[in-house]
Amino acid sequence: MSTILVPYATSEGQTARVVDRIADRLREHGHTVELVQIERDPADVSTADYDAVIVACSIHTGRHQPEIVAFAEQQREALSSRPSGFVQVSLSAASDDPERRGEAAGYVEEFFAETGWRADLVGSFAGALRYSEYNFLLRFVMKRIAKSSTGDTDTSRDYEYTDWDAVDAFADDFADLVAERLGVPGDATVATDATPTSAADDTPAASPER
Ligand SMILES: Cc1cc2nc3c(=O)[nH]c(=O)nc-3n(C[C@H](O)[C@H](O)[C@H](O)COP(=O)(O)O)c2cc1C
Repeated sequence: MSTILVPYATSEGQTARVVDRIADRLREHGHTVELVQIERDPADVSTADYDAVIVACSIHTGRHQPEIVAFAEQQREALSSRPSGFVQVSLSAASDDPERRGEAAGYVEEFFAETGWRADLVGSFAGALRYSEYNFLLRFVMKRIAKSSTGDTDTSRDYEYTDWDAVDAFADDFADLVAERLGVPGDATVATDATPTSAADDTPAASPER
């Protein structure tokens, strides 16, 4: 059993749902998982106290939440010296258009370039459109963005694109990585036959970076 830290940032809550699911799955593998929403002072949280870490965030206007970028930058040494994963949630990953899906991969690379840390495992997942939670202006903007990505422009309802099987597969792959690197397998109670496919991508959702 290992201790796994999951620092994350979320704006409308979809990344929180994704990391909850990953945490549940890793606990089924026998690990102890702590979820920490990074808001203001990333120095309060120390990656060095944990055996492994998964950093998670989402994309807004082409950027990751600045607080999680600052966190990864500040803790890059500790992140680099233990098994690590990076989870990104975006609308680009939900698109059928290869160019839009390529944008999601580009955002991941930008995160690594900006922070100086490169994760061992990457999960790029499709997020959600929650029109019901947007104000009038944001609903208008998101409708325009949706037109060129998922095509879902009916603002009277919400849309969730996350492929939960792909999220489970990412967690299973991360459990394997921890077992391989730390030599401490969890008490696996999970049938791991899920294929790591992305929600709307030709490339695997979870891809080994090293
Ligand atoms: C104001 C706003 C801007 C967004 N900009 C982008 C973007 O540039 N690229 C993209 O792929 N997704 C974009 N999205 C979609 C979000 O990444 C998606 O809704 C995701 O589920 C949000 O996750 P969160 O709820 O954890 O913050 C945007 C969403 C909002 C509300």
